[in-house]
Amino acid sequence: MHSLCVIPGDGIGPEVTEAAVTVLQAVLPDLHIEHAEAGWGTFQRCGEAVPQATLDAMQRCGAGLFGAVQSPTMKVEGYRSAIITLRQRLKLSVNVRPVRSRPLVSPKPGVDLLILRENSECLYSGREHLSAEGVAVAERVITREACLALAERAVKVAKERGAWRITLVHKANVLPLTCGLFRDTCRAVLKDAGFEAIVDERLVDVAALQLTEAPERFDLILTTNLFGDILSDLAAHWAGGLGMAPSLNWGNGCALAEPVHGSAPDIVGTGRANPLAAMLSAALLLRHHWGLNNEAELIENAVERFLAKERQVDFAGQTTRRITMGVLAALG
Ligand code: NAI
Ligand code: MG
Repeated sequence: MHSLCVIPGDGIGPEVTEAAVTVLQAVLPDLHIEHAEAGWGTFQRCGEAVPQATLDAMQRCGAGLFGAVQSPTMKVEGYRSAIITLRQRLKLSVNVRPVRSRPLVSPKPGVDLLILRENSECLYSGREHLSAEGVAVAERVITREACLALAERAVKVAKERGAWRITLVHKANVLPLTCGLFRDTCRAVLKDAGFEAIVDERLVDVAALQLTEAPERFDLILTTNLFGDILSDLAAHWAGGLGMAPSLNWGNGCALAEPVHGSAPDIVGTGRANPLAAMLSAALLLRHHWGLNNEAELIENAVERFLAKERQVDFAGQTTRRITMGVLAALG
């Protein structure tokens, strides 16, 4: 039996996770579910954004579904982004972000790429301080260990999807030590696995331009945490925007599915939250973490069929409910 720890979080998080759980239970009827809390609301109530009980529940289940959390833009003493804490504490070292053209919502057909990003270090290392009056410093930490974990996952994914190109995105011309370590470590692992012929490199600024101009030229992209964060949101445009963008935080023995969007405070409680990103994130968990490829495809195909039948994605009215019913119906 599979166990899932559901962490709804703030804002529209509870709305989209509930919808995704409904669809998950339709393809996996004996799924065991636990609920746990995290986020800004949790921090305000108990002084911690991610209580130990939540980490324990995640460890017990080995798999989770995260909604979204709200984060203040000012520094708040004692507060750290819940999702970053979960990634680091649970050693969810790789982030999987596929971007695929879908009927109706995509501005362009033919895009089918996957960004694999390092998920625990880089500029998000948490080492940020004021070094003098008017001087703030953030340390960009890159370790061989994290690059190895990323590259090894890339080998697995490349085999599974029959990758035809693997693009390493970096900025080694300006950051020769950190980006150099990333590039050289990834290249060595990919070479050993027999992928040398399809490995390509792009500087991050050029990659941003090309992802805007010709996203169909990319297949599998490997990059560091900050670059991957920005590029994957940019690329999500081709999938139909943030409400359509899924991700998976992927560790050893533990994984956490997470729609890319945030807590959307502007629409919370209106019933207009699009739950498709959360459902597609759950599908990533099924495929990559549990190896349940058929069940993952059932959800992805149902989303595809639902969108193909719709004439307009109408965010007025009870969208969350209507989309959930539509996807359930398309599951057959
Ligand atoms: P956001 O993703 O919450 O919203 C951006 C825009 O997209 C809003 O207009 C929102 O209504 C819309 N949107 C987002 N998800 C949607 C969905 N599923 N269906 C329909 N429309 C959707 O980003 P924003 O506004 O920059 O941040 C709001 C809060 O979320 C902030 O506190 C931020 O820190 C947090 N955040 C959390 C993330 C996470 O939990 N992983 C990721 C990004 C932001
Ligand atoms: Mg982001």
